[in-house]
Amino acid sequence: MRTIAIANQKGGVGKTTTAVNLAAALAEKGERTLLIDLDPQGNATSSFGLQEIEGQSLYEPLLGEVSITERILPTRLHDLFFVPADLDLAGVEIEIARMPDHLTRLAQTLQVLRDDQTFDYVLLDCPPSLGILMTNGLAAADEMLIPIQCEYFALEGLVKIVRLIERIRESGANQRLELGGIVMTMFDSRTKISSQVVTEVREHFFYRVYDTVIPRTVRLSEAPSFGRCILEHDPHGIGAKAYRALALEFLRRHHAAAHNSGAIPPVIPSAVERATESRDPVEQP
Ligand SMILES: Nc1ncnc2c1ncn2[C@@H]1O[C@H](COP(=O)(O)OP(=O)(O)OP(=O)(O)O)[C@@H](O)[C@H]1O
Ligand SMILES: [Mg+2]
Repeated sequence: MRTIAIANQKGGVGKTTTAVNLAAALAEKGERTLLIDLDPQGNATSSFGLQEIEGQSLYEPLLGEVSITERILPTRLHDLFFVPADLDLAGVEIEIARMPDHLTRLAQTLQVLRDDQTFDYVLLDCPPSLGILMTNGLAAADEMLIPIQCEYFALEGLVKIVRLIERIRESGANQRLELGGIVMTMFDSRTKISSQVVTEVREHFFYRVYDTVIPRTVRLSEAPSFGRCILEHDPHGIGAKAYRALALEFLRRHHAAAHNSGAIPPVIPSAVERATESRDPVEQP
């Protein structure tokens, strides 16, 4: 079982869209996948049309009151399972902040799934704010998958995230956390900036950037309002094609990593910072 935190402290970059549609595309390939909505906004939850469900979130499992296995719901997709968020989840931050092991509550909650190898992949849709829920997500994950919107300042945001990964490792909360990959989202082929940003991020992060780039398409943004993922909403459109390609690349990378001893070398933040300090700003289109 591999746990992937889909995270970026910047809001609106495509975390939820990537979590929902990558999870669906992995399940379509026959991978047993669990998607956990860690964001009290519950956007992933409404993407499945489940916003009416109360008392079904991670709130009690995080407090150690019930097992996460009692909160896992099936979805319309055969191999995709889901733990929704509800408003209670917002309150859990205050509750667990008092606990001595407050950073590793989620890691402990997921241990039962790890022991059973119930799932191939567990995807965590993290909230944008750097609070206890996101920190728990990073402390429970094997790797972080970072969606980055193709826009100005993408690289600056990435440097901050790389530092955050270092901080989590150094805190002792999770020494195995890796930067699993960077996914460029909302690529608009009509603008010069989109290609410039992709080129620039690739220059600094090389193979960590997925070859698959997610295009900007209205179909992806409207799918949640129908309570559907893109594979159901527009199965043959460019959004579904992109997330299917992302899932294939994800599996290829993970199978290759498993055969090469599993370890992806860590990013050295100081090297990235030096590179970004010396770079020229992106030219205005
Ligand atoms: N490829 C895309 N094409 C068009 N719209 C997109 C695309 N990806 C995401 N969006 C839209 O952009 C908005 C932000 O996306 P999303 O909710 O996935 O970001 P997020 O990082 O999860 O946001 P938050 O930080 O609030 O959790 C949403 O309205 C979503 O539908
Ligand atoms: Mg989100």
